[in-house]
Amino acid sequence: MNLFSKKDDSLIAVDLSSTAIKMLELSKSRSGYELKSMAIVPLPRDAIVENTVIDSMAVSQALLDAIDVARPSSRRIAFAISGNSVIIKTAQVANMSEFEFESEVEFEADQHVPYDIDDVYLDFQILGPTKEDPEMMDVVLVACKREVVDDYQLVMGEAGLETTCVDCAVFALENASELMGTTEVDMVESFEEEAEYAVALINIGANLININILKNGRMAFVRDQFYGGVNLTEEIQKEHVIGFQAAEDMKIKRFQEISSEAVERFYMGLTSEIVRSLDFYAANNAESPVQALYLSGGGALIPNITEELSQRLGIEAHLVNPFSVIKVNPKKFDLAYLERIGPMMMVPVGLALRSFDE
Ligand SMILES: Nc1ncnc2c1ncn2[C@@H]1O[C@H](COP(=O)(O)OP(=O)(O)OP(=O)(O)O)[C@@H](O)[C@H]1O
Ligand SMILES: [Mg+2]
Repeated sequence: MNLFSKKDDSLIAVDLSSTAIKMLELSKSRSGYELKSMAIVPLPRDAIVENTVIDSMAVSQALLDAIDVARPSSRRIAFAISGNSVIIKTAQVANMSEFEFESEVEFEADQHVPYDIDDVYLDFQILGPTKEDPEMMDVVLVACKREVVDDYQLVMGEAGLETTCVDCAVFALENASELMGTTEVDMVESFEEEAEYAVALINIGANLININILKNGRMAFVRDQFYGGVNLTEEIQKEHVIGFQAAEDMKIKRFQEISSEAVERFYMGLTSEIVRSLDFYAANNAESPVQALYLSGGGALIPNITEELSQRLGIEAHLVNPFSVIKVNPKKFDLAYLERIGPMMMVPVGLALRSFDE
């Protein structure tokens, strides 16, 4: 027995996305979670495109830079995959134990996953009894393309990082939101006290929107959609006739100078993407419409986005910041900075929470 194994067991979140590497480590004590280390290192454009590592030198260098900045306590990591490289399906199957389902999972996946089963890694989670039929249970099936997972693992390995856990961005988002829910009164009460209550977690990245709709706290719909902050940058480029980087700068530093046409076109696209998912969800869940949107991701840092989406969709929207429930030592971290970019760290926080799974 190793009395100090907990310390060695720490798992570091590495969110390898299209624009940056986000590394984050949490510690846990009786008083809650605390931020232990963190780094955000931008990636050159096109180093990772649609989950494919194009420039592995650039990515492993950025990983080394992130390690340098964060100085994490371990090299064991969890990363997330998203987009087309992962298929997530909820299925209803006859009640059985987790052990029994292990031997059924390939058969089930064959019916639900449009890829060759040999090309994917399979995983599942039993959610619990199906509401309408107690003889059945809801199971989430997850199939990740092997080549994508292997590629990520390889590049992590090149930077001396050992992959211990592979997660999906939408699940990490849910885990981080649960953490917020346990301390944020309005979310918890809504989940538990009202009979039918649905909320949508919407993480707006640069290229992808991760959506997870929870009905009474249980995952009811997930989807990654190809839209995000980059679409606004492109609208700015077109409208102001400037390059990508200049448009990014304008978006982040001088938002009020952006032509209202560019912003309007971005919102038209964004709302139609979100509505598409809400409609999909509503088709099977007409009795419990989505009552709140919880926004995160770098794309949610756009000024007034909560007001805009609340108004355009007729559903109240909130910005979520994980650092409102995670302790941060002001001697180690810049609180004002974390307050500003917090919503962008929901997926890394959800990943880092895997360290404390039973
Ligand atoms: N203050 C800001 N105002 C507006 N947009 C911002 C701001 N800060 C960051 N962004 C935008 O957020 C996006 C990056 O967000 P995030 O880090 O969540 O994406 P990502 O995880 O790298 O992308 P993806 O998950 O799509 O691969 C970029 O499009 C960036 O321009
Ligand atoms: Mg992301």
